[in-house]
Amino acid sequence: MSWFEICGGRPLSGELRVQGAKNSVLPILAAALLAPGQSVLHNCPGLSDVAATEKILRLLGCSVKREGETLLVDARQPTGCEIPDPLMREMRSSVIFLGAMLARLGRAELSYPGGCELGPRPIDLHLSALRKLGAEIVEEQGRLRCTAGKGLTGGELCLSIPSVGATENAMLAACGAQGTTTIVGAAREPEIVDLQNFLNAMGARVSGAGSPVVSVEGGFPLHPAEYTVMGDRIAAATYLCAVGAAGGTLELEGVEASHLAAVAACLEEAGCSLQAQGGRICLKSRGRLGGVRTVRTAPYPGFPTDAQAVLMAALAGGSGTTVFVETMFENRYRHVDELARMGADIQVAGRVAVVTGRPLHAAQVRSTDLRGGAALVVAALAAEGCSRVEGLEHIRRGYQDFEGQLAALGAEIRLRP
Ligand code: UD1
Repeated sequence: MSWFEICGGRPLSGELRVQGAKNSVLPILAAALLAPGQSVLHNCPGLSDVAATEKILRLLGCSVKREGETLLVDARQPTGCEIPDPLMREMRSSVIFLGAMLARLGRAELSYPGGCELGPRPIDLHLSALRKLGAEIVEEQGRLRCTAGKGLTGGELCLSIPSVGATENAMLAACGAQGTTTIVGAAREPEIVDLQNFLNAMGARVSGAGSPVVSVEGGFPLHPAEYTVMGDRIAAATYLCAVGAAGGTLELEGVEASHLAAVAACLEEAGCSLQAQGGRICLKSRGRLGGVRTVRTAPYPGFPTDAQAVLMAALAGGSGTTVFVETMFENRYRHVDELARMGADIQVAGRVAVVTGRPLHAAQVRSTDLRGGAALVVAALAAEGCSRVEGLEHIRRGYQDFEGQLAALGAEIRLRP
């Protein structure tokens, strides 16, 4: 198994173009299943989660070709309607195919996603939304068998939690349902807007994304479309935190500054200067960040749970005290024990973590999940000495050429052996 050797404690500087958003590409690839013909999707990063999604599309009878960062998805004649268990385990968010398969094929079978490294990953909201649209869903020995025998019919769906995946699943299914579907209590994440834009480019009639009420007039025939996936706000947050912690300057392009408002506010409070100008975000930092007011993760536009670990890592090597409250997932502090190996002082009690910044030192650490792994890299870049970060398979799920991007900023990072 390979690892990163990172010799930290030196400032970084340079420009980066941010990759396409992982959390947009996955539902957009599922949406490509809705239209007979070939969709052309630009800005699809080379990530293991995207490769898993490509595998699913092929299993369903689609052809998928990659040309650089463009994916050509031909959904002329899908044949399969089952996602095997190993692929569901590889990527639990493949549940996003349920709505698309029901809309296009009238049938779907996949295994129940169960728990994941972040804790339980329920899909009750996905299932009740699809049932409300007329899907029959039976759970048997960990498999979910879903059919839309009489077709799907639009209706009003109320989500008790603004779940990103449930909102996306409902939008996809609603495109294949007769009549209007209204999703009340929808997630407002930018990735929902990106999905709406792609669906509308395919001829769908979706409106309201970005607000708590999304409407879909279903039943219109969809056609393939060419589309460019938005920039990845979480990858951008990771690079901002890395340079914030190590010190230096960073110019990012390819990401919408307004998507990063909550993260940018914390970095500014911690002592960085940030400017958004002409589609670029510029950060300057002297390193050794100060503490900030309580960071409470929340649905968009609140502080993203996916950026909690990387900000914590940046502040752990700083000089102030910060309280984190993780409200979205039960088990999202697994990076804390690994950061402690680097000398971090972080006290966890349930969903609260208190970080007291102090200089970190190099250590051998192991990623426990995608963003937790990125956090270890952020900490290692600021820590004196040469660290070894293992468990790169987690990091590869969400960061395209992480080491190359950081090396371009002057980081001493090498893939070993
Ligand atoms: C998506 C993102 C993930 C991010 C998360 C929250 C993708 C591929 N993943 O995940 O990176 O961390 O949003 O911003 O886009 N819940 C239920 N029942 C359900 C569904 C969700 O109780 O049926 C709960 C979850 O346990 C969690 C909360 O709702 O506490 C939010 O989860 P959700 O927005 O659904 O996250 P995902 O779509 O899985």
